[in-house]
Amino acid sequence: MKIQEESVHEPVLLHEIVEIFTEASGKRKVESEKLKVESKKAQVWYLDGTLGGAGHAQVIAKKFGNINVIGLDQDPNAIARATKSLPKFTSGKVILENENFRNLDKALDKNGIDKVDMILLDLGISSDELDNSGRGFTFKKDEPLLMTLGDPTKYPFTAKDIVNNWKEEDIANVIFAYGEERYSRRIAAAIIRYREKKSIETSLELAEIVSESVPKGFGGKRKINPATKTFQALRIAVNDELGALREGLVKGFARLAPGGVMAVISFHSLEDRIVKNFNKDRSDKDGAKILTKKPIVPIDQEIAENPRSRSAKLRVIQKK
Ligand SMILES: C[S@@+](CC[C@H](N)C(=O)[O-])C[C@H]1O[C@@H](n2cnc3c(N)ncnc32)[C@H](O)[C@@H]1O
Repeated sequence: MKIQEESVHEPVLLHEIVEIFTEASGKRKVESEKLKVESKKAQVWYLDGTLGGAGHAQVIAKKFGNINVIGLDQDPNAIARATKSLPKFTSGKVILENENFRNLDKALDKNGIDKVDMILLDLGISSDELDNSGRGFTFKKDEPLLMTLGDPTKYPFTAKDIVNNWKEEDIANVIFAYGEERYSRRIAAAIIRYREKKSIETSLELAEIVSESVPKGFGGKRKINPATKTFQALRIAVNDELGALREGLVKGFARLAPGGVMAVISFHSLEDRIVKNFNKDRSDKDGAKILTKKPIVPIDQEIAENPRSRSAKLRVIQKK
């Protein structure tokens, strides 16, 4: 896999995350004492489950100054980049693992870490992966249709396998369930017609099949590319993103220290619903405190400067 030196990813809701983490740790007397003793070894742990360009991790590390960071990403490129950039932002430990956050328990056990104080899951893909991974996430470039967040050789199937080998009904169901795409049946039928003549190899090829199968002008006032939802659906299926999220939330909450906080940024309603229900359940059953009664969303200025942030929703929960 190609390693890109500099990240082009713009962290979303950065000020809001830092503020909420600062406020939550400030209210925890024991932890704030831990933070003040600069001469002692850092004892506060921040787990970043979706390191990406390490934008959030750098700013959080810098803000706290003396914290330990454990960063995970299933994309080895993200880990390679952060290995160079992140350690200078904290005087504490920095441990980086090429791991899915659904296995965060394994990563913590491996490194002898029992509990953590702050967790961030900033879901989905980074701009680095979208623009420069060469794995077919974008319909703006002609790339092999893989859509794996990590090394494609480690995945049971890729997007190319779905569109070329799955039954029409199964393709339609994936596009409907994970893309919430109303034209899922038409799109699946067009995929089947096309592949009878030739296999579908690239992102651009698939984007064209989708565009030609939906009514002209589709995409609404925002004029999103007609293939947006189909691409989202295939990516979610290939990476089992919703399964990973469910597992990551359970394991993350279990490894939070008392008073610890877990923040999740989601980018579509399927993810947000899972986070919202999880938090409510932990609040009802474990007395956890929901710090965001309504999800925090970006202000207009952030959306203008970084349009990718427009669908972001931040929800934060604090363990009792
Ligand atoms: C939106 S980006 C995170 C950006 C990061 N917060 C920053 O400020 O640069 C999401 C990252 O999480 C990774 N990722 C997504 N799902 C993951 C999972 N289940 N386990 C580990 N990494 C994941 C992606 O590979 C990507 O690098």
